[in-house]
Amino acid sequence: MNPEEAEPIPFHRPSMTDAEINAAVEVLKSGWLTTGAKAHEFEAEFANKLGVRHALAVNSATAALHLALEAMGVREGDEVVIPTYTFTACGEVCAYLGARPVLADVDESGLIDAQSVARLVTARTKVVMPVHLGGQAVNPSPLRAAIPESVRLLEDAAHALPADVDGIRTGSLGDAAAFSFYATKTITTGGEGGVLATDDDWIAERAARMRLHGINADAWNRHGAGGKWFYEVEEAGFKYNLTDLAAAIGLAQLRRLDEMAAARTAIAAAYDAAFADCDLLVPPPRRPGDRHSWHLYAIRLNLENLHSDRAELVRRLSGFGIGTSVYFIPLHLHPWYQRSFGYQSGDFPVAEHLYERSISLPTWPDMTRVQVTRVSRVILDVLNEARRPVEV
Ligand SMILES: Cc1ncc(COP(=O)(O)O)c(C=O)c1O
Repeated sequence: MNPEEAEPIPFHRPSMTDAEINAAVEVLKSGWLTTGAKAHEFEAEFANKLGVRHALAVNSATAALHLALEAMGVREGDEVVIPTYTFTACGEVCAYLGARPVLADVDESGLIDAQSVARLVTARTKVVMPVHLGGQAVNPSPLRAAIPESVRLLEDAAHALPADVDGIRTGSLGDAAAFSFYATKTITTGGEGGVLATDDDWIAERAARMRLHGINADAWNRHGAGGKWFYEVEEAGFKYNLTDLAAAIGLAQLRRLDEMAAARTAIAAAYDAAFADCDLLVPPPRRPGDRHSWHLYAIRLNLENLHSDRAELVRRLSGFGIGTSVYFIPLHLHPWYQRSFGYQSGDFPVAEHLYERSISLPTWPDMTRVQVTRVSRVILDVLNEARRPVEV
């Protein structure tokens, strides 16, 4: 047997080369570890790559979402509309500011549904947060049409680097965008990290101050060559800056972004081809012409034709050494959202329908052809074994 056939295939494995390792070592030897020249270089390259005016490096996408909402003026009693089919970071950052996360249902592709949003907008709505789930970017046009002009759009682009809608890249689809460099994302800054991207000078200026204690100059300006010792605290800010060590790893990853994206796109195409004739699953939907990051390749099970549920199938795949994951358990099914905001099971039928059927397959860029073929074959075998007999 080919040795690759015996090895378990994890759901994710970060792609690390000598470039990332050498960049990290260089910073470790340099005498400057925290936010400094590397973080600024990372911000400049990121902004350039995306074609946005500002990219603020922070230590997570959660921090970026929080800073963006704060800069957009979200305060106690305000409302922020978010999809229920997302990660809890989207809801918790509203609560940090005393605002209420108002949940919206999603459409068949798992993205926030503009009609659902239109019904939820009130005089207190400050922001709508489209989530580019799995790397399929949300088309902002129907959303803009559904909300008043005063309501801002904050993209959750944690999954969507690189991605676009009709050629417009994530980061420019709304008023600001949060990117994640968490360990499993399309690029990582060594485990944790994020960027707040925006073309809005005011948001950028406010968030830059708030990400470092509300101080009017960052540590680099104070301690770097020619830096001044004087600073003033202008607001009660946060501690969200990204270290140079993380930024150096991020720079090396950013320079490999296109190569890694091409590898994930090829994996998605191989899955598409393998599953084309299978009536037991539906491949992930996508809008033709848009660029998908393929952070996730989430199949939808055709449960009506299967005698096993999703949990049982995930267990079986794991038994064959295939790592998978489930994105997301809708927020309204979690205790905090039910206790705090009165949501309950059954409130968002489309999100629940998708959740019960979804399994995300490995799409990490260093997967070999043999591994991709093995994942596809095991999926098809496991599903075919679980096929419900046809009643006569
Ligand atoms: C959709 C979504 N938004 C936000 C986040 C938060 O990202 P981070 O871990 O960088 O804070 C995640 C993390 O998994 C996510 O999946």
